[in-house]
Amino acid sequence: PSLQAAKMDKLKGSARLMIVSDLDHTMVDHHDEENLSLLRFGALWESVYCQDSLLVFSTGRSPTLYKELRKEKPMLTPDITILSVGSEITYGEAMVPDHGWEEYLNNKWDRNIVLEETAKFSELKLQVESEQRPHKVSFLVDKKNAQGVIKSLSEKFEKRGVDAKIIYSGGQDLDILAQGAGKGQALAYLLKKLGSCGKTPNNTLACGDSGNDAELFSIPGVHGVMVSNAQEELLQWHAENAKDNPKIIHATERCAAGIIQAIGHFKLGPNVSPRDVEFPYIKEDPFKPTAAIVKFYVLYEKWRRADVPKADSVIQYLKNITDANGVIIHPSGVELSIHSSIDELASCYGDKQGKKYRSWVDRLVILQTASDSWLVRFDLWEAEGAAWACCFTTLALNVKA
Ligand SMILES: *[C@@H]1O[C@H](CO)[C@@H](O)[C@H](O)[C@H]1NC(C)=O
Ligand SMILES: *[C@@H]1O[C@H](CO)[C@@H](O)[C@H](O)[C@H]1NC(C)=O
Ligand SMILES: *[C@@H]1O[C@H](CO)[C@@H](O)[C@H](O)[C@H]1NC(C)=O
Repeated sequence: PSLQAAKMDKLKGSARLMIVSDLDHTMVDHHDEENLSLLRFGALWESVYCQDSLLVFSTGRSPTLYKELRKEKPMLTPDITILSVGSEITYGEAMVPDHGWEEYLNNKWDRNIVLEETAKFSELKLQVESEQRPHKVSFLVDKKNAQGVIKSLSEKFEKRGVDAKIIYSGGQDLDILAQGAGKGQALAYLLKKLGSCGKTPNNTLACGDSGNDAELFSIPGVHGVMVSNAQEELLQWHAENAKDNPKIIHATERCAAGIIQAIGHFKLGPNVSPRDVEFPYIKEDPFKPTAAIVKFYVLYEKWRRADVPKADSVIQYLKNITDANGVIIHPSGVELSIHSSIDELASCYGDKQGKKYRSWVDRLVILQTASDSWLVRFDLWEAEGAAWACCFTTLALNVKA
């Protein structure tokens, strides 16, 4: 069996938890200079959930703007990405499009007619090319003209048999979407698709902060968290429509920290991030290989940032959990002894103190090779400010007698 197959196997049963989260101001806190809540969530997800659960991002961003965000913030790679306000669904790192969804959206949608009719309005200014998508056409329009334009556009579309959704937001953006599109409809489609092959997730948690996330919370059976920093429009929607629904909470924590809080509130699984666990670590029983990997690199980062006390016990611990005869094959091809590398690490204590240095693990895949051994593959990221490096890493784990 290959590691690639192991990744696919994950989706062969029901997910333990499916998290469907908006990005800007929900998963990603643009006011968190340290990016800590995002890193805390990432460490929790990779150590506990990545093998049997699904991570879904649902954003208004187009693929271009989404990829820009991924280059700026220490985000995980999701299993599924819903883009352009629910008008595109893609799978995996390669972002393979869902053609079934595209076909569904084609119903009563004619992009050419939308372009033809909108061209007649001098008040409408097309947004940049990257925001123009197969099932979404986006403009800029002044507040004072918006309502009038929307009204006459709706009439024109109706006359020409086009069923479109017109959304005005942020006092300037006018999006015209295929009628079937939207964050809520995309989630409903995914749940139906998973259900049709007997893989309805055991639990689903929707996470959002603004008006267009309300649709996510309206899907039956879904738990919801409005992060503490949610906008008035979403809170008002909640007060009017879902006040008595115990499955929706308003977190007291911001962004990704609010998502972690909701996992605990609804008892959806463990909600202590390895980043919040103090050294010395307590031995885990049973041993969890994913947690071991994540904790190793959290400790590595804390050592270099001087976020743990400078104690010999840290280095002893790292040696204790690695094989005395083990080797690291460096990306350059050079083979190094693990233990002498750890000795070298000892002399790096605090070399990143006061710097914007972070390390995190993404795309962790694990394959059990025997009752007490595993092969693990992941992306190891190290970032210092704008300088990012990724090491595609493979390692072998064995339980010591
Ligand atoms: C999902 O729930 C079923 C039934 O309660 C359970 O047997 C299964 O182990 C759960 N799946 C995961 C991945 O936790
Ligand atoms: C090394 O591992 C052994 C066995 O797991 C344990 O008893 C001991 O406390 C560990 N020492 C350190 C420094 O972690
Ligand atoms: C957090 O992300 C910002 C980009 O938004 C980046 O400039 C900054 O260096 C990151 N901070 C840390 C501590 O990684």
